[in-house]
Amino acid sequence: MNKTIISKYPSNIALVKYWGKYGNQLPKNASLSMTLSKAVTEVKLELMEKTNSEIELAYFFEGEEKEDFKERIVKYASAQPEFDYLLKNYALKINSTNSFPHSTGIASSASAFAAIAAALLSASAELDGDIFNREASRLSRLGSGSACRSFYGPYAVWGELDGLDASSNEFAVPVLEVHENFKNMRDAILIVEDQPKKVSSSVGHGLMKDHPYAEARFVDANKHCQEMLSTLKSGDFDKFISITEREALSLHAMMMTSTDYYMLMKPKTIQVIDEIFEFREQTGLPICFTLDAGPNVHLIYPESIEKEVKTFVETSLKKNTKLIIYDEIGFGGKTK
Ligand code: DP6
Repeated sequence: MNKTIISKYPSNIALVKYWGKYGNQLPKNASLSMTLSKAVTEVKLELMEKTNSEIELAYFFEGEEKEDFKERIVKYASAQPEFDYLLKNYALKINSTNSFPHSTGIASSASAFAAIAAALLSASAELDGDIFNREASRLSRLGSGSACRSFYGPYAVWGELDGLDASSNEFAVPVLEVHENFKNMRDAILIVEDQPKKVSSSVGHGLMKDHPYAEARFVDANKHCQEMLSTLKSGDFDKFISITEREALSLHAMMMTSTDYYMLMKPKTIQVIDEIFEFREQTGLPICFTLDAGPNVHLIYPESIEKEVKTFVETSLKKNTKLIIYDEIGFGGKTK
């Protein structure tokens, strides 16, 4: 029987960063993210019955066949016993599209692997609700770590954390207690550079293996996760801002102090950050920045000050950006 499955999953932005891994895609520290809603990947998976035992998989990105990513998916899917039956009995055609323009430098592996894992799982097994999400989160992690947090919103934690019983290194869990202050957050993604970065995240994770500050970093990140969980519960903006910004800068400090050191921030990244500091000092408004593994800046703020922030972005930050994507907090994706 031929069948089509559609899955649609968002990206997420880590407030406490995953940086360093061990074993089969397991994190060296816990991370905590805010789920987005507009930056999404939609996957259309078509299954055609076949009789030969060869793996047949075609991968299209926005209508164009992509051999390199296809290889990555074949390698990924054939390593998971859960997908054996599917790969043996069906030829697969995957069509993936992103809601955001490509070559913006926005990390798209999170939404891409969340959507791919969810579609393959849905084609392989009949699971519902919580069990589906947990299993899809685990399987997506094996494709790209940060993907596992995209199944839950508004915030998710991935990685074992003292005091958070359900937490696991294998899959993400939702943050259950969120104060009203943090329920309607926004993320203005300021694209300052749209060239592909020179050092991939996988290489960066690898450099944490013999990083002189690694152990201190992992302890610090776990502490930040604990503190962020209390902050999300209490509604304290000042604490939210200090953890989020310190995390962003710690991540980049790790890159800059690896044995093979490198730098992903650009002059415009620093200019934008400086202006954010200045704006916050002058207005007292609760905005802050974070960075992922690249030069682009995520400006995080509550919906209640959207008007003031948009005016600031358009009048002061725009000159240093190539593109601005206004995203907002989200609740995960769906598969049908
Ligand atoms: C800086 O999830 O892209 O965005 O597991 O190798 O695919 P792989 O890495 P990836 O790393 C994300 C790193 C980060 C921080 C984060 O999202 O937590």
